[in-house]
Amino acid sequence: MIAAIDMTDPALVMGHPSIDEQHRALLGMIEELDERMGRGEFGQGVLDAIQGMLAYAATHFDEEEGLMRESEWPDLSVHRGLHAEFMQKTGGFFEDAASDSEWTSLDVLRFLLHWLLKHIKIEDRRFFDWLAARSA
Ligand SMILES: [Fe+2]
Ligand SMILES: [Fe+2]
Repeated sequence: MIAAIDMTDPALVMGHPSIDEQHRALLGMIEELDERMGRGEFGQGVLDAIQGMLAYAATHFDEEEGLMRESEWPDLSVHRGLHAEFMQKTGGFFEDAASDSEWTSLDVLRFLLHWLLKHIKIEDRRFFDWLAARSA
């Protein structure tokens, strides 16, 4: 079981209400999956939840990239590549879970969670700091 994520941690707050809400929801979905899989649930319900998380991540990444495009952030293409990496890893995780490799899946899920936390704190932060400085 992973430790609960403190969503009031200033390192996780970008100051953009809808993006912050999406980060909270996405991290919450992964935490919930970890809890369910940690309890030994590996049925269709868990697979559906992983697909729901994938769909939500795709929507979030689109919206975030839209903001970056509108503001003409020079590092958009690098950031897009990072989002694509997450989607690819999560797709692989779904395949693993579907083929019943339980422990591998749980490890990969935790890897994804840590990847996302780091991504928000470092990579998303880089953009939102740039945006704030630009509009100041
Ligand atoms: Fe994000
Ligand atoms: Fe991002």
